[in-house]
Amino acid sequence: MALRVPLIMLALLAAACVSSPVPIPDAVPLLAFKSACAGHGTTALDSWTESSDPCSGEWRGVTCQRPSSPGHPRVRGIVLEGLGLGGNAGALAALADLPALSFLSLKNNTFTGSLHDVDFSPVAPHLKLLYLSGNAFSGRFPQSILRLRHLRRLDLAGNRLTGTIPPEIGRRLRALVTLRLARNSFVGPLPASLEAMAMLADLNVSGNHLSGQIPKHLAAAFPASSFTGNPELCGAPMRRRCSRQQRRGDGETTRGQVGRRNSRYRWMVVMIMAAVGAAVATLIATALCAVLWWKKKKKPTPPRASSRTSSTSASREETVRFDGCCEEFDVRALMMGAAEMLGKGAAATTYRVFMGGQTDVNDDHAGVVKTGGEAVVVKRLRRREGATREDERRRRELVREMGSWRHANIVNLRAFYASAEELLLVFDYIPHGSLHSLLHGQ
Ligand SMILES: *[C@@H]1O[C@H](CO)[C@@H](O)[C@H](O)[C@H]1NC(C)=O
Ligand SMILES: *[C@@H]1O[C@H](CO)[C@@H](O)[C@H](O)[C@H]1NC(C)=O
Repeated sequence: MALRVPLIMLALLAAACVSSPVPIPDAVPLLAFKSACAGHGTTALDSWTESSDPCSGEWRGVTCQRPSSPGHPRVRGIVLEGLGLGGNAGALAALADLPALSFLSLKNNTFTGSLHDVDFSPVAPHLKLLYLSGNAFSGRFPQSILRLRHLRRLDLAGNRLTGTIPPEIGRRLRALVTLRLARNSFVGPLPASLEAMAMLADLNVSGNHLSGQIPKHLAAAFPASSFTGNPELCGAPMRRRCSRQQRRGDGETTRGQVGRRNSRYRWMVVMIMAAVGAAVATLIATALCAVLWWKKKKKPTPPRASSRTSSTSASREETVRFDGCCEEFDVRALMMGAAEMLGKGAAATTYRVFMGGQTDVNDDHAGVVKTGGEAVVVKRLRRREGATREDERRRRELVREMGSWRHANIVNLRAFYASAEELLLVFDYIPHGSLHSLLHGQ
């Protein structure tokens, strides 16, 4: 008998050891979350106990995903809505330790404090839905949310968030379908980058303190009720018209902020482009000199060009396309294209222009990439002070002649447009070009 009691205890102990589950990693973050909320409605989480498995189906609001390979199921979703749960925003940091978390809803609870300090990046690989509306979260827009690159729905409506909507939001959250920021205290402009969200189907920023013009594509895509309750927003679809200052000022602010963030990379691109621009300018100057010299020696051959001229007079508008040029080229297409200045000189300014396409911004490199359009380099020469009609006529003739040159080492002139005020020269765009490679061919 004396021996039996310890034996039974030993057996019980062994049984307990065998049946106690292998530590379930996802239980730890969930229980940490629960204890961080302690005292704020956690009775709703009574089913979350240390002795049970979050994926047993018994934990309130927790759903799991069957593992593809042998192993334990992982927590995939947490939906705890309208339960009077609360506590500091810091409690959410515990949930960021769930590596397979794909949706999280804490709608309509009583959470407070700044979301800005919560690092959501550990859940970036999977998180698709994030609903935190109807709480009392405060502070600025949480920057780490911008790292949730697969996020499809973001609902932060009905909180106390302040500050501006991050200007780069549209380029960071490319997969976003739903963006609800209504009923907060956001200020500043609606970022122009929102137009880059190709999938955005549900936008609501009503009831904030936003100001300035509503970006055109957003105005066209969403109803007025997406924007109401921001007395300082103007332009369609709102009744309030924008003053000239608002129209320009806000757009520039947005672009300015976007630019600063990627300034290092941008500067590199700009410098490379400036080098290309300089090279093009040098080539043009050389070419013009060569033509002048050549014309003295030999009568020019007529250029192979198709011309659309509104008048033969040198002072009138004229658009000329050379062999192999762009089907759709005309000045309007050129003006509609997205342009980027490559360089500026005393007599001319050089731009890179995407004709007939949209510019888009590449996620990883923060550089501008082209979708659909055709890239060309446009050199814009102003009319020289005191130039006579005869000068102008001669200048056009030279350009016409340059258009007939086709040589591997010369940047092709594709087309030109001439009017009384200016001359636009359209060249092939040479990606990754450099001054050196242009000057030395290869
Ligand atoms: C929010 O939750 C409370 C209970 O906590 C409920 O009474 C209320 O109707 C809910 N509101 C919404 C908008 O879901
Ligand atoms: C936007 O939110 C406001 C307030 O929450 C609501 O009244 C309005 O209907 C919403 N509009 C859209 C388009 O969702």
